[in-house]
Amino acid sequence: MSDKAIINLEGKPYELPVITGTENEKAVDISKLRAQSGYITFDEGYKNTGATISNITFLDGEKGILRYRGYNIEDLAEKSSFTEVMHLLLYGELPDADQLKAFEYTLTHHTLVHENLKKVFEVFPTGSHPMGQLMTMIAALSSFYPDSLNPNKNPEATNLTIMRLLAKMPTIAAMIQKKGKGHPVLYPQNKYDYVTNFLYMTFGNVSEEYVADPVVVDAMNKLLILHADHEQNCSTSTVRMVGSSHANLYASIGAGVASLWGPRHGGANQEVLEMLEFIRDNDKGDVKKVVAEAKDKKRLLFGFGHRVYKNFDPRAKILKKSCDEILAKIGVSDPLLAIAKELEEAALNDPYFIERKLYPNVDFYSGIIYKALGFPTSMFTVLFAMGRLPGWISQWKEMREKNEDIGRPRQIYTGPVQRPFVEIAKRK
Ligand code: SDX
Repeated sequence: MSDKAIINLEGKPYELPVITGTENEKAVDISKLRAQSGYITFDEGYKNTGATISNITFLDGEKGILRYRGYNIEDLAEKSSFTEVMHLLLYGELPDADQLKAFEYTLTHHTLVHENLKKVFEVFPTGSHPMGQLMTMIAALSSFYPDSLNPNKNPEATNLTIMRLLAKMPTIAAMIQKKGKGHPVLYPQNKYDYVTNFLYMTFGNVSEEYVADPVVVDAMNKLLILHADHEQNCSTSTVRMVGSSHANLYASIGAGVASLWGPRHGGANQEVLEMLEFIRDNDKGDVKKVVAEAKDKKRLLFGFGHRVYKNFDPRAKILKKSCDEILAKIGVSDPLLAIAKELEEAALNDPYFIERKLYPNVDFYSGIIYKALGFPTSMFTVLFAMGRLPGWISQWKEMREKNEDIGRPRQIYTGPVQRPFVEIAKRK
């Protein structure tokens, strides 16, 4: 079998190497094509472009497979904790008991944020979107840790920056929710694990003892694990792109948060819930009308469709099942769940969605669970970001360790060709 591709341009053949991954995925390496032929390749939206070689996450969109470092997402979601998955993504292996203890100890001891960071919060108007606040807060960390500005310092310094960011993320996310409610901020408590601490800072209050519900802790762990990485999606590619200029970690992750915010990406989880509420309140629950309008391109069905999955998103499958279980366990009955299921059924049986291979994605059911756990809708994408953080960081770390080239795509220019400059008095 040939391990070369031949491309003919203007009658001249060019031999291009073929790269094969461990799951037998193949790519034609065009990195020397322009130097050899003057041609570049064109692929708007990078639909068919591999931007890196990575050891972290494998997904097969046709078969609906997702694995972190070789482990099936179904096993990780069922059997591991979010901190174990963080370790797996960052260092390549699930931790043994001692490694996990040490990892969690470090995380626990970096959860406090500088008191002056609270003052940054004060300038946000009431009602400002949590994602805007999160993006600013993460970027602002670079001012509090000037050492982090040089990402080339040494591996120990980089690891400290990474641990600080992972540890402070729940503190910052909880501060955002508290600010939204006008409630006092709670300081992290070292007696709690990562997820429980987040829930305590978010849902606890200064005037009474917080008692964590194990069902909620489990649900939160599962949600965070399911969001933890998804190879070269829009926000991760942004993090890698920004980081490739040797921008510091906080700046790179702040950019990733910005990218995730968009409604075509992570922002879709907020849109899904608002869409379901709109269907309940304005469309009188008529899902057929909604599907018809989506087919006419009058509205988008948020939580449906995916660039890579042309089959069920395995995360959506897990979340659909969890949604029933979690709502039953915590005794919440939400009519939006029935609307979501009806809508899914109607779309999955419609030729438009069948032909285009549009299935529910990770954002379709997550919002109903977040809502049942007590999060306001505007916080949903922050929760996605909290889950995605170890993935972003692992991808950033991998890129930096390989010292990848600066990201800099080319283009095909279609503007005016050279023309003479006209003095202003002579322009019409
Ligand atoms: C995430 O990439 C990742 O890995 C992302 C993510 C992660 O973990 O990081 O999985 C998280 O971002 C999930 C996606 C969340 N977004 C939404 O739920 C928003 C709704 N979905 C779409 O906007 C869309 O499906 C995308 C953005 C997710 C994918 O876009 P593509 O690959 O560019 O596909 P497309 O927009 O070109 O769609 C192909 C066709 C088009 O119709 P035609 O032009 O062929 O007639 O399908 C239609 C689209 O109009 N279509 C939809 C639709 N999604 C696609 N029609 C109605 N409703 C939809 N949701």
